[in-house]
Amino acid sequence: MSRVKVGIIGAGRIGKLHAENLVKMHRVELKAISDLFAGHIREWADRIGIPVVTDHYQNILHDKEIQAILICSPTDTHVPIITEAAKAGKHIFCEKPISFQLEQTKQALEAVKETGVKFQVGFCRRFDQSLKKAHQTVKEGKIGQPHLLRITSRDPHPPTKEYVAASGGLFFDMAIHDFDMARYLVGSEVEEVFAQGAVLIDPMFAECGDVDTAVTTLKFSNGAIGVIDNSRKAVYGYDQRVEVFAANGCVTVENARPTTAAISTAEGVLLDKPKYFFLERYNEAFVQEMADFIESILDDKEVPVTGHDGLQAELIARAAQKSFAEKRPVKIAEIMSAAQV
Ligand SMILES: NC(=O)c1ccc[n+]([C@@H]2O[C@H](COP(=O)([O-])OP(=O)(O)OC[C@H]3O[C@@H](n4cnc5c(N)ncnc54)[C@H](O)[C@@H]3O)[C@@H](O)[C@H]2O)c1
Repeated sequence: MSRVKVGIIGAGRIGKLHAENLVKMHRVELKAISDLFAGHIREWADRIGIPVVTDHYQNILHDKEIQAILICSPTDTHVPIITEAAKAGKHIFCEKPISFQLEQTKQALEAVKETGVKFQVGFCRRFDQSLKKAHQTVKEGKIGQPHLLRITSRDPHPPTKEYVAASGGLFFDMAIHDFDMARYLVGSEVEEVFAQGAVLIDPMFAECGDVDTAVTTLKFSNGAIGVIDNSRKAVYGYDQRVEVFAANGCVTVENARPTTAAISTAEGVLLDKPKYFFLERYNEAFVQEMADFIESILDDKEVPVTGHDGLQAELIARAAQKSFAEKRPVKIAEIMSAAQV
């Protein structure tokens, strides 16, 4: 097998992005895409060269030629699609989070395990070269035992009310990337979570039962402690910075900017704002994420982000929600035992 035949389910923001990356890869044949509004995407699909467009994702699962699928539909559709796709023997790439319910995530992962198909979760930031280097630096012991982790993760503008209402909340929708990054950078599981949240940007978040600003502190099994700050609106653009401070040094990743030009005048020094949002900041990471998924199928390697990784991030998100609601630190063990995962 020298090329993988792929189908995509869901052609919104992220489905289209993956499609446009996959059609450029020589080891991939992007055969089909499905969306509830197939009529709206036909012209775009023709233009980029996807032969089959359908409004029923089952048509993709029933296509015997298709070996792998991407699940890019809204989160509340993921679990039934994963279960059906695994039964149909398709390798699966599923966007984050796997689901909003830990019990359902567990059920999906069991279906995957039973059939032995590959299953990768869409934590795209792990494929960013700078964050990967920070991870490798810690993993190779170059800065010694990690003591502190600091992640700043702020969006340039808030999503719509419609999006927020269906998003699962800031901890599941947005901070979940940071929870995964925290495990990836520190190289240890999270044991305890304490979260604070506030509505400071738009009362719409409160109307949806959500927050727009949060600080989450984490205690890791290896003794390190971490803090993540999230905001839904940073007026200067997508603010994505990390630092791991350790016994023998520290590693930091700063914001990426469209250019490195610095304009100095009598008034001061002017730099570009950070790259605007995730599509710009993680553009190359999204390409690498797909390339690695395809490689894991063709070369029969382990996928780089597993179902276990997906579940761990969701456990932290659930603990953060509970901690915020009950105003107390919450252990991951408590969440695991309540959800029986
Ligand atoms: N990795 C990332 O950085 C990242 C970024 C954005 C979104 N996501 C995740 O990707 C998923 C989709 O998010 P989005 O922002 O692209 O949403 P979106 O609303 O832009 O797109 C979802 C698309 O799925 C379609 N759809 C709905 N039900 C379907 C079904 N049963 N079969 C086929 N298509 C169906 C909708 O018509 C829509 O076009 C979510 O799980 C989200 O959390 C991940």
